[in-house]
Amino acid sequence: MRVVVDAFLELRDRAAGCTRCELSTTRTQVVFGTGHRDSPLVVVGEAPGEQEDLSGEPFVGRSGTLLRRVIGEETGLDPADCCIVNVVKCRPPQNRDPRPAEVAACRPWLDEQLEVVSPTVVLTVGNFASRLLLGTREGITRLRGRSYPWRDAHLVPTLHPAAVLRGGSAALERFRHDVRLAGSLLAGAAA
Ligand code: URA
Repeated sequence: MRVVVDAFLELRDRAAGCTRCELSTTRTQVVFGTGHRDSPLVVVGEAPGEQEDLSGEPFVGRSGTLLRRVIGEETGLDPADCCIVNVVKCRPPQNRDPRPAEVAACRPWLDEQLEVVSPTVVLTVGNFASRLLLGTREGITRLRGRSYPWRDAHLVPTLHPAAVLRGGSAALERFRHDVRLAGSLLAGAAA
């Protein structure tokens, strides 16, 4: 019998024991990400918070609920099938910003995830992921609203859902616009 191993799950198993940086000494567990290798959309956030560290899932809580709802409404994808990951896989203590050395240590995991999944669209949420993947210091307010060619994919930078929750209806409308753009790029690629 031939056993087919899902490369995404195999990668997750390898990452589970990661000790490449100091965050491995304070985390509860590695928050590798959800989804599977066939997802046409990869969402990239910043880093797990307390709830994610405890549950092992990215984007749990209110910002995750908003993210998944808008993905479902604006792309037609089942959010449960989407691949959702973070730049940094372990919770920084007190939810401080990830340090450059931590981002550098974790980067190979993100690169491998993106290579295995090979999505049509990468949706970066917030300054942190958008700046990192686009290689710029420009802020999300100026970056968002359009797509960028990125490797073999389209990269769509947008607001972080936590910022959308704080930003009221105008922020929600911008977020919806960007996720809709991701949806039309997905539909165009599927046509
Ligand atoms: N914010 C993020 O960027 N990622 C999470 O997983 C949770 C909150």
